Amino acid sequence: MRPLLFFDSGVGGMSVLAAAQRLLPTAPIVYAADSAGYPYGTRTEAEIAARVPALLGRLVERFQPRVAIIACNTASTIALGHVRAALDLPVVGTVPAIKPAALASKSRVIGVLGTEATVRQPYVDRLAAEFAGDCTVLRHGSAELVDLAEAKLRGEATDPAAYARILTGLTDQPGGERMDVVVLACTHFRLVEPELSAARPLTYLDGADGIARRIVHLTQGQDWPAAPVPGTAIFTRLDPRTEALRPALARFGLQKIDQL
Ligand code: DGL
Repeated sequence: MRPLLFFDSGVGGMSVLAAAQRLLPTAPIVYAADSAGYPYGTRTEAEIAARVPALLGRLVERFQPRVAIIACNTASTIALGHVRAALDLPVVGTVPAIKPAALASKSRVIGVLGTEATVRQPYVDRLAAEFAGDCTVLRHGSAELVDLAEAKLRGEATDPAAYARILTGLTDQPGGERMDVVVLACTHFRLVEPELSAARPLTYLDGADGIARRIVHLTQGQDWPAAPVPGTAIFTRLDPRTEALRPALARFGLQKIDQL
């Protein structure tokens, strides 16, 4: 049974995997994390554009997935075109949910919380101009929030004050006190949405459910196993931190851990 392949720098893509598993509960899964390249958000465009298509090429050759999902905004906003050009299978990317955020905002001030690399992408400018032309679109990039999500999934306690401080990166900007919707433009951030909500109760949106529906559409008419099969988590580097993720991976049905 050919799997669905999810790809991220770390565990963030599991927020997208969770949405896909709600619609396709028995889909065989390979979840790939480029732990050797983590974090992506502080890398250059050139590094990501070189790294992501090469890794996906190796993963597709090894696992022959039916669909590859780049469950990472940073990689998608920079490298989706390169990946699609290089691979002969459907590739789904992650797009910052600016359109639904503009639809949901009453105050017409929305925040885009992503990695530093994502929030500076022209792709985000285009989404803001096309779908949120009458909104003030505030942006903030946080590498710390990515690390907090990784720590949470390793079962470590994180400091509630950190989430409030990170959100001031948006709320301290002009108009920020009126912001009512925040786009979680990094897949890691959905994993710490309860902590963000506790720090500041706003509407937090991501694109995970839309990606899940897209996967269903692309695989329409295909057969799936009758019952869930053990999934594989594959890392570009294994270290003690990987071992600490084992319980979280198991919650997503990822029982096997391997190295690319
Ligand atoms: N989860 C990724 C994203 O959606 C990247 C996090 C990182 O490695 O900086 O942007």
